[in-house]
Amino acid sequence: MKREIDVYSSSISFSEQDVRDKTVVVIDVLRACSTIQTALENGANSIIPLAENDDAGRYTRYLDPGSVILCGEKEGKKVEGYKLGNSPLEFTSEEVSGKTILFKTSNGTRAITRSSGARRILIGSFLNISALVETLLSEDEGEILLICSGWNSRLSIEDMVCAGAITHKLCGHQLPYEATDGVKVAYGLFEKFGDDIPALIRECNHAKRLRELGNEEDIAYCSQVDLYSSVPALREGVISIR
Ligand code: MLT
Repeated sequence: MKREIDVYSSSISFSEQDVRDKTVVVIDVLRACSTIQTALENGANSIIPLAENDDAGRYTRYLDPGSVILCGEKEGKKVEGYKLGNSPLEFTSEEVSGKTILFKTSNGTRAITRSSGARRILIGSFLNISALVETLLSEDEGEILLICSGWNSRLSIEDMVCAGAITHKLCGHQLPYEATDGVKVAYGLFEKFGDDIPALIRECNHAKRLRELGNEEDIAYCSQVDLYSSVPALREGVISIR
């Protein structure tokens, strides 16, 4: 793998300039990217990620619940007045098939919208990791940035290990001499914890928060590797798998 790779540790750890002309993979294992993947697999038409300064509430009165729904969380909890929160298990085909989803989360959609100047933006989680790597390998140019969404400007180990798994698949069993610090950290974490992804995720900080909020089942769901084989991508502000 000759292309340059770097890893960023949170949704605010990069600038518009950093992503310009790059291929970006936004990773949010718990839970935004796993939820986006699930919603699209269950037939949602598309997902429009809202920026952190978008006041999602102002959309509410214009929405037609038959075609466009507002979903997302604040501090992990469904926001009052939203149709759904951010649990992937809520995004069933009954709820989302044929719908456009306006989606706002604390860190995941912030990382996605802050990446909008990139050449290409892909959505990643453990649910689609092999398909994601295949997509990256099928391109032949440009730097790849793996952007871990983290939590409130801090890193989340489950996102970093997912980035490490991607670098492991891209670089093979030996890191290139010129690997960046970010790649070395992610790769090293994957080597230490990658043998048991469900155990790693069960013990991470955000899993503890989700458990306290009663979202235990999300943790096991988001720990599944390669449940899906599609790669959501953001084009002109809209995420889809077409
Ligand atoms: C986020 O965007 O920070 C997360 O997806 C939060 C969550 O688990 O709801």
